Amino acid sequence: MWGGRFSAKPAELMQAINVSIGFDRRLAAQDLAGSRAHAAMLLKAGVISSDDEAAIQRGLIAIDAEIAAGTFPFRDEFEDIHMNVEARLRELIGPAAGRLHTARSRNDQVALDFRLWVRDACDRTGAQIQALQRALVAKAEPHADAVMPGFTHLQPAQPVTFGHHLMAYVEMFGRDAGRFADARTRMNESPLGAAALAGSPFPIDRDHTAKALGFDRPTGNSLDSVADRDFALEALAAATICAVHLSRLAEEIVIWVTPQFGFIRLSDAFTTGSSIMPQKKNPDAAELVRAKVGRLLGSFTQLTVVMKGLPLTYSKDMQEDKVPTFEAFDALELSLAAMAGMVADMQPIVENMAKAAGAGYSTATDLADWLVRELGLAFRDAHHITGAAVKRAEQLGCDLPALPLSELRALEPNITEGIYKVLTPEASVASRMSYGGTAPAQVRAQIKRWKDILA
Ligand code: ARG
Repeated sequence: MWGGRFSAKPAELMQAINVSIGFDRRLAAQDLAGSRAHAAMLLKAGVISSDDEAAIQRGLIAIDAEIAAGTFPFRDEFEDIHMNVEARLRELIGPAAGRLHTARSRNDQVALDFRLWVRDACDRTGAQIQALQRALVAKAEPHADAVMPGFTHLQPAQPVTFGHHLMAYVEMFGRDAGRFADARTRMNESPLGAAALAGSPFPIDRDHTAKALGFDRPTGNSLDSVADRDFALEALAAATICAVHLSRLAEEIVIWVTPQFGFIRLSDAFTTGSSIMPQKKNPDAAELVRAKVGRLLGSFTQLTVVMKGLPLTYSKDMQEDKVPTFEAFDALELSLAAMAGMVADMQPIVENMAKAAGAGYSTATDLADWLVRELGLAFRDAHHITGAAVKRAEQLGCDLPALPLSELRALEPNITEGIYKVLTPEASVASRMSYGGTAPAQVRAQIKRWKDILA
């Protein structure tokens, strides 16, 4: 491509470190779309003839078909996807191919291709997040009133419902989808036409190519257009946060399927056996989703470090933007799909959850609240009396609901039978009617809200 200035071939090592076709071939579709829009614009601007433009379009369509058929010759000697496409175009249509690169540089070309790829990835991920949310809502709805322990410090805290717990993740994934949508809006400006870095002397129409490629507008500064990859960093940050959420749900699945918890069952579809222990059914998919966040954060870190301290504008360092980004989205898309599959697959064991929901004196707060509401005690005093009741129940080896009234009255003489009504997990959750609380009616209201959003 630059034979005019060079008389010798690059050293083999130079080629080895420089070549990117092994990974940037994933930008082929974006590269062809960009070239087609660019050629159409060059014709409209009167920069190339209609014969040349027609030949270029025909050639690019043929290349598209070759790539789809798996017959396109990806060649290391042409370094990257841009030059592979151009070289092939020349083979297919002859010298007219040489007109395509008018008013363009690989710098704005790669900035465009990569931005299009990341934009697509954000869209795919957003759709996958919605699918996962739908699976969570579908699992939450029939279990809106299934009581389970709510935890803090992984210690039983207050009873909640399984539906409420699953809907917490629907909220988190909703924000993740929002972050991808925000990033998409911000990145949706076309860098094409920035050329090498300074813009072009040709009468190009950047609005034309921007519109053809689905962008809101062209970018406003040619240097920035070829120099920054913050759109990818933003998408990777959103992806990393999403992977953090996935890892937390994955961890809960791992905990819930243990015989000690026994809150859910996973089918053979999402578990594996052990080669030595015949009784085992391991939640490998959940464990792997839990682990993937390492790749995501690694990718974000990698690209951050690549970009840090680079002077404007393009530097070849930026060729290293692609692998981490591709790897991150591959890992995230696989994780989202696996998680949606696991959520649909999981069978809650409601008896075990209900049993655990009452354990650990989980309705102690309800007892204290009753003392405040019915007897007018200060919460601090009620807290103290309840603590003593828990201590007494512990000594007697019973739950709070099984603690005899005489025992309770020994601590506070005005306590009546009525207190037992609030000491069951069912009563506890039903009482938490505050907006967004775990009362089944509130949970169902949120399920309805999300069903409308996700419809
Ligand atoms: N393969 C290169 C990359 O991915 C394309 C841009 C090359 N530009 C250049 N000035 N050498 O970054």
